[in-house]
Amino acid sequence: MAKDFSTMEDSNRSSNPSIHELSDPARRSLLRGGLGAAVAGLLAPLAGCATGGGAALLGFKSVPISTADAITVPEGYSFQVIAPWGDPAGLSGENAAFKFDASNSAAEQETQLGMHHDGIHFFAQNGSTSGLLVMNHEYSDDGLLHTDGMKTWTRDKVRKSQAAHGVSVIEVEQKDGRWSVVRPSPWARRITANTPMAFGGPAAGHALLRTAADASGTRVLGTLNNCGSGITPWGTYLTCEENFIFYFNGGDTQSSHEQRWGLRKGGAGGYRWHEHDERFDATKHPNEPNRFGWVVEIDPMNPSSTPVKRTALGRAAHEGATTAVTADGRAVIYMGEDARFEYIYKFDSRDKIKPGGFSENATLLDHGTLYVARFDANGSGRWIALTHGQGPLVAANGFADQGELLIKTRQASDLLGATKMDRPEWIDIDKQGWVYCTLTNNSNRGGDKQPAVDAANPRVNNTMGNIIRWKDNGGFDGTAFEWNHYVLAGEPSNERAEAKGNIKGDAFACPDGVWTDARGMLWILTDMSTSAMGKGDLAKLGNNCLLASDPKSGEVRRFLTGPAGCEITGATATPDGRTMFINIQHPGESPSERSEPEQPRRVSNWPDNNPAGRPRSATVVIRKNDGGVIGT
Ligand code: FEO
Ligand code: CA
Ligand code: CA
Repeated sequence: MAKDFSTMEDSNRSSNPSIHELSDPARRSLLRGGLGAAVAGLLAPLAGCATGGGAALLGFKSVPISTADAITVPEGYSFQVIAPWGDPAGLSGENAAFKFDASNSAAEQETQLGMHHDGIHFFAQNGSTSGLLVMNHEYSDDGLLHTDGMKTWTRDKVRKSQAAHGVSVIEVEQKDGRWSVVRPSPWARRITANTPMAFGGPAAGHALLRTAADASGTRVLGTLNNCGSGITPWGTYLTCEENFIFYFNGGDTQSSHEQRWGLRKGGAGGYRWHEHDERFDATKHPNEPNRFGWVVEIDPMNPSSTPVKRTALGRAAHEGATTAVTADGRAVIYMGEDARFEYIYKFDSRDKIKPGGFSENATLLDHGTLYVARFDANGSGRWIALTHGQGPLVAANGFADQGELLIKTRQASDLLGATKMDRPEWIDIDKQGWVYCTLTNNSNRGGDKQPAVDAANPRVNNTMGNIIRWKDNGGFDGTAFEWNHYVLAGEPSNERAEAKGNIKGDAFACPDGVWTDARGMLWILTDMSTSAMGKGDLAKLGNNCLLASDPKSGEVRRFLTGPAGCEITGATATPDGRTMFINIQHPGESPSERSEPEQPRRVSNWPDNNPAGRPRSATVVIRKNDGGVIGT
């Protein structure tokens, strides 16, 4: 999601010590320098970290920085655009075409691809020639979604906005190197902010999840602000609810619980759903926000299956959910919480993964241990269990049971002294077992009355972001780890020391997505905010882009640049690595206004270039002209 630095959630007022307070002042001043010896000691030994040989992963020639309203790919590559917002998803009998004046009804939007594509995964059905693309639609820009934007505001517009959110399942196939959406398809599905879902895990049925519409606390309507995503080894899709609190209206005053989750009067995101859909008014339905902020498991192979919100994985402004398998066959899921000064989590399942699909593993994510990360200054770290009854996590501190603890995951993490991070976004794992997490930026780091720098978050006014990585001792279920910085993003010619970075290769800033392909290449997807893009520390970096990095050498090369005002979000590929799918989100985003219906093409008219159209988020299919593996 586009993140205006001034509106980005920053709700962690907890007093748990940052590690700078545990280290000596001399060290701290070195850290403040941004690239001092102390930090250098925690930087990845880029040239020496290879374990084993193998051919270099990076085989393409970089593309230059671009400010064009177009996609650029390296020499020898081609791309095509599929599945833009508003095209039919392929539901049987539902073929309403996109109307370029945005006059499609709410009912039509419920059958069309949603807005603002984000996390994505290709589930192969026939090798690498056909399969399902499952993707998130993070949010709506109502200035583009409705013909007159938000000048009038009605229940129908709220319904259309809710229908533009959620997840799409579409079937795609390749013929002679060209991909298309299969319509109709028995697999096609739209999941929206109104789709019936269930709760699973320790908080299911909890009093804090019960509402007037659901006295059981076990059923909920919809998912929203679906940002990053993940998959499981048993073939399901995990969609993550990120900035859910932006949709809820708070009162003049908030409880401490509501404050810790960022609830505001009027709703911080400007969605105004509560004006026509009362459940988004937290002054009337105070438990409804507790029903969001979860990781939701979807079985794409069964279009009539009920999605399940997995409470055992904790409640957070979830960005992604990346699964690893332990040596004894259990699932570990790493998760970032993208808000300033929030935390990194992992879930370790109690049970082993059973052979088969969702039905054989239907409750696997309901039982296990949730941990939060503490990064220590010496390059080690601990996973601290979020288990009721342990340490301060008792009734006297506001956690009556494990269900309440999970609903209040942030408060529990505060008490455990978890490390406040610079907006953890996506996480992925390389072939050596290093787990990489993008820390996209945090302009409040080190500011007045704000948490200071620490070893893991070493730069004041961190406008550029970094990628941190760790390796759990003894395997993915280890409770201790070693960590270092893979790369500090930046622009070497910037004057401000903290904004220079240490990239070996092409400059970039604000890493958001990170995805490892089958060869072990690390793909980095950037999200420079359009409010900051082209100015200040970001002045020389152009549009958001997709880069590739070889974890063996640390080298970074720019692979693709996106159209004006966009962010590069999800990435996935066919099993043979010869087709890559990425998502382009919010092309044409206006730097200052969310709603600009009078001039929808002012910033971008990608991908249609229709003189009466409007920019649309879409999926981009990338192929090598010689049919080779992407990146080689
Ligand atoms: Fe939705 Fe954290 O980006
Ligand atoms: Ca993101
Ligand atoms: Ca982002």
